[in-house]
Amino acid sequence: MRSLIDKLAAGHSLTKGEWTVLIANQPDREYLAAKARQAARRYYGNAVFIRGLIEFTNYCKNNCYYCGIRRDNRRVARYRLSKEDILACCKEGYGLGFRTFVLQGGEDAYYTDSMLAGLISQIKSSYPDCAITLSIGERGRESYKLFFEAGADRYLLRHETADPAHYKILHPKEMDFEGRMQCLKDIKETGLKTGCGFMVGSPGQTAECLAEDMLFIARLSPHMVGIGPFVPHHETPFAGEAGGTVEQTLYLISLLRLLKPDLLIPATTALGTIDPKGREKGVLAGANVVMPNLSPIGVRKQYELYDNKICTGDEAAECLNCLKGRMEGIGYRIVTDRGDPAEGPGGISCTT
Ligand code: SAM
Ligand code: FES
Repeated sequence: MRSLIDKLAAGHSLTKGEWTVLIANQPDREYLAAKARQAARRYYGNAVFIRGLIEFTNYCKNNCYYCGIRRDNRRVARYRLSKEDILACCKEGYGLGFRTFVLQGGEDAYYTDSMLAGLISQIKSSYPDCAITLSIGERGRESYKLFFEAGADRYLLRHETADPAHYKILHPKEMDFEGRMQCLKDIKETGLKTGCGFMVGSPGQTAECLAEDMLFIARLSPHMVGIGPFVPHHETPFAGEAGGTVEQTLYLISLLRLLKPDLLIPATTALGTIDPKGREKGVLAGANVVMPNLSPIGVRKQYELYDNKICTGDEAAECLNCLKGRMEGIGYRIVTDRGDPAEGPGGISCTT
């Protein structure tokens, strides 16, 4: 099966059957990880980009079966950050060296398109050398266009699964697979740099589902793919389900790296939650982004998508220093430019 890994590394594409075989059997782990590391090094050297994550609302109209901030979880204290709070997070982050801010939240109509556009242009005018990533769910073509025109650079919307039957296992009836896929197309066409992604080991996920994810990613050709293990949350319908494993997540990170060598792939907080060395292992499997939390400490625990989320009590500066040390410990270095996708092998892109 090593020949399948070689085929992927050389041609960046496999058939559904070939993906399924690799994902179901996960052969030659070390060999695959080494190839993925090599590919990442060709494009990005030993750079790991940082993104400052600002979780600005935990109100959500959706009821995804896996998510701790789902609408029906009455046990979570809901919060919304004001414009001033968000700007204060950016100010702190900028001082620490962050040049990308990721505004993430539940699907919360309180923040209208025009409010968000105003916020985006204010952040952009205060920090013109920074990139803004939005991760606020399904909005619609016109909204994405407005955000782009206001100065947003990137949009992260995990597709969650590319298999419609699996989507139904993860979501209640009112949530629509086609609608989510359409949003991703709209985001990409708007001109926003696009990120998709999925959880690894979510209930009902099979090797065939993951093969579909790979084919979908090949078709969409996003700039970023965020994947992390599914971690159960005790106040959700999936409380009693098994979570995703470190090994499976690392294997998929490496496959993604070989599928699209210039991808931005985060070593996620969820991976760091299920393994104390998860983020280091993620980078050694081919990831090249980490996303420390810039949200005010007072609200961190309320943005608990899954149980035992790490870093909920640490200042942004502590997290940053901790991650710098962790990355240096494995021979990588955190870089503080915007971290746009590489424009070809041979070095990191440092555009403004
Ligand atoms: N509301 C926005 C959206 O839908 O894209 C952004 C926030 S959403 C909570 C961010 C991501 O967290 C989801 O796309 C999902 O993949 C991930 N997530 C939610 N619950 C999780 C869990 N229990 N374990 C791991 N990841 C989870
Ligand atoms: Fe937050 Fe280590 S990254 S404490």
